[in-house]
Amino acid sequence: MTKILVADPDPRSRQDLCTLLGKRGFQFGAAAELGEALPSLADGDFDLVLCDLSLPGGGGMKLLQEVKHAHPETAVVLLSAFGSVQDAVTAMRQGAADFLGKPFAADQVLVAVDRALEKSALQKENLQLKSALDDRLRLDNVVGTDPRMQAIFKTVKAVADTRTTVLITGESGTGKTLLARALHSLSGRRNGPFVEVNCGALPESLLESELFGHVKGAFTGAVRDKVGKFEAASGGTIFLDEIGTSSPGFQVKLLRVLQDRVIERVGDTRTLPVDVRVVLATNKDLEKAVAAGEFREDLYYRIQVVSIEMPPLRARASDVPTLAEHFLRRFAADHGRPALHFTPAALQQLAQAPWPGNVRQLENVVERAVVLSQGELLDVADLPLLAQKPGQPAAVGLPGPHTTAPDGVPRPLREALMESEAAIIAQALQHCGGNRERAAKVLGINRSTLFAKLKKLGIA
Ligand SMILES: Nc1ncnc2c1ncn2[C@@H]1O[C@H](COP(=O)(O)OP(=O)(O)OP(=O)(O)O)[C@@H](O)[C@H]1O
Ligand SMILES: [Mg+2]
Repeated sequence: MTKILVADPDPRSRQDLCTLLGKRGFQFGAAAELGEALPSLADGDFDLVLCDLSLPGGGGMKLLQEVKHAHPETAVVLLSAFGSVQDAVTAMRQGAADFLGKPFAADQVLVAVDRALEKSALQKENLQLKSALDDRLRLDNVVGTDPRMQAIFKTVKAVADTRTTVLITGESGTGKTLLARALHSLSGRRNGPFVEVNCGALPESLLESELFGHVKGAFTGAVRDKVGKFEAASGGTIFLDEIGTSSPGFQVKLLRVLQDRVIERVGDTRTLPVDVRVVLATNKDLEKAVAAGEFREDLYYRIQVVSIEMPPLRARASDVPTLAEHFLRRFAADHGRPALHFTPAALQQLAQAPWPGNVRQLENVVERAVVLSQGELLDVADLPLLAQKPGQPAAVGLPGPHTTAPDGVPRPLREALMESEAAIIAQALQHCGGNRERAAKVLGINRSTLFAKLKKLGIA
């Protein structure tokens, strides 16, 4: 049954609306102010909200925003005795289905309600169709329309439910870790643990005890028994990242686990069987590493039974707009922004960028654009980081710091750096209309760090 919330501070008008809706067979709830409307909305499954613009506690526009944020499928019709054309335009822009001036005739309200409900039913249907379509274009959280990605999805689906070892290769930021997680969550082991180990980050001795565990007294500092990651991943998946940079000694031990499916804790002579699916990743060309004698050939053959190569983003141009829209939806929701859109020029710019940092870079560019942008449309100017080369600081269009004093003598480093820092912070603040929280986000520092810097630099 259709449920409608009437949010109107005027008791008579509220009563009239409720009576009207009740007669028409709708279920209804009533609220006199924002503080009453919000909890009702959170509890009830309302299909539509009729809301007066002058709602105490924040106004009808605020309620509209809250509804569109938390329940985008719920329709909102705004009512006002003093509404201006400007109010109506703003309301419609923010996603209201209709705007009625008070006083209104009963028929007028009922027509507006019917129309709004019809529209939201259509929207819901559209969303369902779209998500059914999306399901074909994605695998778990991995988005990809490019034929090479679709082929990868097929492989992943085919092997997910086996215990086959899978090797994922590809440049940094192409989605290797994300794919490994998808493989786990699509397998029968999804309720088991997913344990991630970066094999390039630890020296051989530590890595060995980290993965296989150790017994008390195995080496100095081994004060108690320790369970290794392989045991911790029992019943689930272990993801060995950066396998290409692991040491020769470690490679021998790994080969043994993969062959015999048993481990030995460091300092222990017992062997323990392990029930884990092993997924490995590297951004190195393993074939070359084998040729150069850096990677054991026998291990290479062992792990590349099923090998998936993630193509760099520049080689799957058709994925760029799909991924960009996907990130845009996610970040707009994360940052509490209404639905945002790219202009065709912005999409074209994105599609043409070289993306040396692959999907990770695209994700960052979109998040920054969402945080920095003011309106609902994101244009080329909102994508400043596209000019950035990897490893270089963001090109924010600042004058370079004055590294020398007017007399040509180099300035103390601290002083020159502080000046640059102040300029960058000032520009971020300006971009964010003085909003420090957003500025901190843009700068990639937390709010308290920004406050401390503002104080130190004398900006605040
Ligand atoms: N196809 C995709 N769909 C959606 N998000 C993606 C996709 N590919 C990558 N991402 C996102 O991009 C970011 C980088 O992906 P990920 O960490 O999986 O890359 P990686 O290849 O493991 O990188 P590295 O080699 O640096 O570890 C993550 O935030 C991930 O969620
Ligand atoms: Mg990774």
